[in-house]
Amino acid sequence: MRKKRPEDLRSHRWFGASDLRSMGHRSRAKQMGFGAEDYAGKPVIAILNTWSDANPCHAHFRVRAEEVKRGVWQAGGFPLEIPVLSIGETFMKRSPMLYRNLLAMEAEELVRANPIDGAVLLGGCDKTVPGLLMAAASANLPAIFLPAGPMLRGYWRGQTLASGSDVWKYWAEKRAGTIDDCAWREIEDGIARSFGTCMTMGTASTMAAAAEAIGMTLPGAAATPAADSHHPRLAAATGRRIVEMVWEDLTPCEVMSTAAFENAVTAVVAVGGSTNAIIHLVAMARRAGASLDLNRFDALSRRTPLLGNIRPSGAYLMEDLYYAGGLPAVLERLRDLLALDAITVNGRTIGENIRGAGAYNDEVIAPRERPLQSEGGLAVLRGNLAPEGAIIKSSAAEPRLLTHTGPAVVFRNYADLAARIDDPDLVVTADSVLVLQHAGPQGGPGMPEWGMLPIPKKLLQQGVRDMVRVSDARMSGTAYGACVLHVSPESFVGGPLALVQDGDPIELNVPERRLMLQVAEGVLAGRRAAWTPTPPVYPRGYGLLFMRHVTQAHEGCDFDFLHRGGVTPEPEIH
Ligand code: FES
Repeated sequence: MRKKRPEDLRSHRWFGASDLRSMGHRSRAKQMGFGAEDYAGKPVIAILNTWSDANPCHAHFRVRAEEVKRGVWQAGGFPLEIPVLSIGETFMKRSPMLYRNLLAMEAEELVRANPIDGAVLLGGCDKTVPGLLMAAASANLPAIFLPAGPMLRGYWRGQTLASGSDVWKYWAEKRAGTIDDCAWREIEDGIARSFGTCMTMGTASTMAAAAEAIGMTLPGAAATPAADSHHPRLAAATGRRIVEMVWEDLTPCEVMSTAAFENAVTAVVAVGGSTNAIIHLVAMARRAGASLDLNRFDALSRRTPLLGNIRPSGAYLMEDLYYAGGLPAVLERLRDLLALDAITVNGRTIGENIRGAGAYNDEVIAPRERPLQSEGGLAVLRGNLAPEGAIIKSSAAEPRLLTHTGPAVVFRNYADLAARIDDPDLVVTADSVLVLQHAGPQGGPGMPEWGMLPIPKKLLQQGVRDMVRVSDARMSGTAYGACVLHVSPESFVGGPLALVQDGDPIELNVPERRLMLQVAEGVLAGRRAAWTPTPPVYPRGYGLLFMRHVTQAHEGCDFDFLHRGGVTPEPEIH
């Protein structure tokens, strides 16, 4: 139902007045070849496009933006494509996570500074999803998300290849000497066969699923393959819908409610999603004024069965999930665990959207009576080693390691790890606990995805493929193993992880959600008194701003000044 008249549109302030500035705005629209019949009285729709030649996952976004525009024109809107920071997961160093908040700031400010009534958000590669949705929550103008879609399955010598997961797997085999250089090159040729995001349940697929479960995409968007003709039709439908959303004044903060975030956590856990989702969802919830913390995340995980048989936790890929019915089919099987009355961007509730959604392959989407695991694969740990929490993806670990105590082998930073991990003289056994320090939000900086520490070569050659690892880093959503991540507070700021020394016993108990450094408190107090901080990596610029303002992992790693309350005023036009 329309709640706005043309003169109520935000863009009317730019184009509709009869003063000097409005004349300038109209004349500059004419400079681009647009007359009043193109824009007057119509919602102006920003298409925030994270296309870049440096982001292979978004290679199709220039074309998709045109398809979104088609939909906007069809529905009586006026599209303006606006490029924003493209965070490509593969090429950006030190860590793409350094730039999520920068994208969120840029997108929020561009929407606010321009004559925009609503926005279509084109993202997909990991950080672009939370970055754009954080911006949408803070700007709080009508917005809808279009996921890039997963790429095609990888292929090698008759086998399916999975983004990321098979890189780690076959790299371990290469180091163990079980595959040769020729096989390794063939894997390189076949593992990324089209545009689109990683086709495993990595962070991109997980965050697309979260965006759909929150209600910020059209139904079924998360699993729609990038190279399928459904994808451009989805783009046009998304363009049509945002125009209606502007007239209905349906804003992100109405959609991104506490109930919607809990639906998203349930969906993420049920599909075996990435640990990175925890950080991103906490940050997004804080922006939207919703309530979500690690305790609630763990409680939701404990009650949610694992249904999605998707790598790295399972056996299939996103294309299989799409053919099996996509996320609506997963959600329909979780109906009793969802807040069904949460509103979504199409104006209907999530319950209405998923009603009757068919699941067509029980191997890919397990039935409720035969779940892959009775509870979710993400667990929040606490103990004297992680007073503010740590995370493990238990569904991607060897089950025998979920209850384990072993002596620490400590690496001071990633350079130390790289220099010593394959040293034949390294004192390590399969029972050791590998510890990496200085890999957190400030210590990385940017909390790189170093949490899947490599298995020492001499253990690989003995057949060891998983060990307990503990760090304040994140882990790629495509990675796997008994990796305890996001230890908070981090070692760089003097958290207990900074005090661990070689040989200290570390206890991991996932069923009881415990992570303990078994060292007497008196000994730890002495180490704490002797601890000295490391100087920051960046003496200036954005890196220094990041280190000064990034919050800890359990708080979402947003900047402290961005999740503060208060309403930013609309720009004055003089
Ligand atoms: Fe872009 Fe994985 S590298 S989604």
